[in-house]
Amino acid sequence: MFNKQTIILGIESSCDDTSAAILKNNAVLSNVIAGQKVHESFGGVVPELASRAHQQNIVPVVHEALKQAGITLRELDAIAFTAGPGLLGSLLVGTSFAKGLALGLQIPLIDVNHMHGHILAHFIDEGKPIPAFPFICLTVSGGHTQLVLVKDFLDMEIIGSTIDDAAGEAFDKTAKILGLPYPGGPLIDKYAQEGDPHKFQFAKPQIPELNFSFSGLKTSILYFIQKAVKENPDFIAQELPNICASVQQAILDILFHKLEKAARENNITEIAIAGGVSANSGLRKRLQETGEKLGWKTYIPKFEYCTDNAAMIGITGYYMYQKQLFAEQSVSAKARMNF
Ligand code: KG4
Ligand code: ZN
Repeated sequence: MFNKQTIILGIESSCDDTSAAILKNNAVLSNVIAGQKVHESFGGVVPELASRAHQQNIVPVVHEALKQAGITLRELDAIAFTAGPGLLGSLLVGTSFAKGLALGLQIPLIDVNHMHGHILAHFIDEGKPIPAFPFICLTVSGGHTQLVLVKDFLDMEIIGSTIDDAAGEAFDKTAKILGLPYPGGPLIDKYAQEGDPHKFQFAKPQIPELNFSFSGLKTSILYFIQKAVKENPDFIAQELPNICASVQQAILDILFHKLEKAARENNITEIAIAGGVSANSGLRKRLQETGEKLGWKTYIPKFEYCTDNAAMIGITGYYMYQKQLFAEQSVSAKARMNF
């Protein structure tokens, strides 16, 4: 019914990274990512600038992905693209491009949910152990914080999520308060490695069930910094590593409180993390340590598949291709998308 070897072009443009990848079955032949430095000084992604940059980047990025993979357009079996969730203007660029190219080549079009992509990145063939179903995935990114019960490749259930900010936003907004450029997550990670995680304490949210909240933490950090800087204008410069380590500790405490609860309540010991924040070195270390303590088998994605990338869209496309879950040409980009 379908080729033994399936060649898929994956396209990702949901936020501020334009990416294209070529997959042969579940193996990545190329994964090209063009970031957008234009947002750095704004403290966050500027949607209008993002979609314009995607328009400039999409053709060269796809071209480069094909070149690196040694694949021609005619060899593609399908095109998988991020249909949502994300910034509508950004999504529209990848969606329109994928639709046009699939129509021109007369090959199937596959509309991928970006959040499925983050999770299924664990199944990219790397010769490493892969999670066994059912497993729990803590997906932490700039836009989402979700606890997902993954029953099969395309059968997933959100069992907890944030009621306000995402974990990545907590990192990025703290960075902004500290005067660091966007995205601040990687910088907080870097400074935290030199600091004392117990030096400063911040408010802990009391949120029911498996849900998260980070807006109270953000406010608590803001007031704390404002007060400290009033007393000592050099406070941030003098204490940056300790502030970063303490903030990171507070975010990880919130995440792990609920991750451990989810594992316990569902009696599951296969535990994965995914999304941009899963690149955080403190989070990766803590997952490993908690896993050893609680007898979990833990799965941490390769660094380049944590933050947004098209390889994760390609692998999701591969599993959808096998089920012939194809989109019509009338498919549209969706800022919000059902799980
Ligand atoms: O998954 P992603 O690339 O994009 C979204 O789908 O949102 O995640 C981006 C988020 C940003 O908030 C960024 O600050 C955060 O991931 N991030 C990190 C690290 N690397 C990226 N946060 C903490 N530590 C890191 N090392
Ligand atoms: Zn993402």
